[in-house]
Amino acid sequence: MTGFFIAVSAIIPRAMGLKYYIKTFGCQMNVADSREYRLALEAYGMTPSVREFDADLLIVNTCSVRTKAEDKLVSYLGAAQAAAKDNPGLKVGLVGCTATLIGEELKRRFPVIKFLLPATEVDSFTEVVLESIPGFTAFSRDLSGSIGEKERFERYITVMRGCEMFCSYCVVPYARGNVRSLPLTEILRRCDEAVSEGAKVLTLLGQNVMVYGRNPEDPSDTPGNFNGLLKAASDRHPDCWIKFLTSHPGDVTRELVDLVGATSNISKHFHLPLQSGDDKILKDMNRGYTSAQYRELIEYINRTVPNYRISTDIIAGFPTEDETAFENTLGLVRELEFDQMFTFQYSHRPGTAAVKWEDPVPFEEKRRRLRKLIDIQNEIVLRKHKALEGSRLPAIVYGPAYKSPAKLTAVSRESHVILIPDSSIEPGSTVDVEITKGKQRTLEGRIVG
Ligand code: 5AD
Ligand code: SF4
Repeated sequence: MTGFFIAVSAIIPRAMGLKYYIKTFGCQMNVADSREYRLALEAYGMTPSVREFDADLLIVNTCSVRTKAEDKLVSYLGAAQAAAKDNPGLKVGLVGCTATLIGEELKRRFPVIKFLLPATEVDSFTEVVLESIPGFTAFSRDLSGSIGEKERFERYITVMRGCEMFCSYCVVPYARGNVRSLPLTEILRRCDEAVSEGAKVLTLLGQNVMVYGRNPEDPSDTPGNFNGLLKAASDRHPDCWIKFLTSHPGDVTRELVDLVGATSNISKHFHLPLQSGDDKILKDMNRGYTSAQYRELIEYINRTVPNYRISTDIIAGFPTEDETAFENTLGLVRELEFDQMFTFQYSHRPGTAAVKWEDPVPFEEKRRRLRKLIDIQNEIVLRKHKALEGSRLPAIVYGPAYKSPAKLTAVSRESHVILIPDSSIEPGSTVDVEITKGKQRTLEGRIVG
């Protein structure tokens, strides 16, 4: 990623006056990458286009993790192709996972796509734009100009890319390639930059941050494991909250849990995708842990870390999942009582190992299982939210709530999102919030300090 900044510090455009738009599908990694693309394009003198298809350059950052995301992309590209009739200058750059997997095919189908940037090559963004868009030359400009309100307080810092786990349902290892860790000095530089621009929360981001720095070929300054990075970031910015995402449950060490428990500015929120609560399915998924090992990890966190919060991902309708296996997942979900759960209907992805089972679970049955999981989880979350009533949490005020601007959104160290019926507090303030009401979807609170 250093490539962006080396490249932009030495360049200036005839791109002045050209307009860009960035459309982002998918995960937080894509959101973080899109931010880099935006800064790079603005460094070239491009300005944002209000309407996406009026742009000169439309960057489409793609997701392939489920079929639905790819379907949405295809209809979006269809709309872009049609819009090119009215705006013949429109050029689309297709970037990210789908560009890796089926980019060439899409480029043939939608000629408005002028270049592809696979997710394995995000570092080459500026070079690829330079090659593909005639008229770009060099300049330099202050990059800090156009940072949105929310980004001012919470910044995603990518620390590693790629995945080598090859879970049998997942396209990510094919789309994003092998694990690469970023140099520690570069990560810390980005943390410093974010803090100097007003960030109060730094989220260290990667497909599986637990394997950060473990590869012998990693940059020589990496501390050898994620703990070293987490400690370095939290020591360096004691006034910030340091969060991290995602953690593969099989790679979380006791030392990591100990560090999180013992360090007050490290968030005690763990995102630990379980995927299934059945041992046969976990094996078929190639997840590398059993339900007992997962349970042990949660028990260790429970013993070691005060006021922790755990979120998870579950897939319903994996090809070999029968009714008993699904019941086992429901059992573990009831037992472990996650604070938050993201549920996914299994989606058959070409090229993954799970295709050997075809896709025998009928769509309606997958839907039923998904619904059941959501119903159970909703009950758990409502109960947990109600139990928080009367408790006090420090939180950072992010700004007016998205759907009800008369209220403020505040976010706690453990990522509780709290709505506060008050608009007098300056965004960016750290406040003590008393939870007044726990609802299904939200927490409401009032400022008490
Ligand atoms: N089908 C359904 N869900 C999937 N995920 C990844 N691949 C698939 C798939 N083929 C889910 C996993 C992962 C989350 C980001 O997406 O639960 O943790
Ligand atoms: Fe996909 Fe598994 Fe890697 Fe997560 S750990 S990105 S689910 S292959």
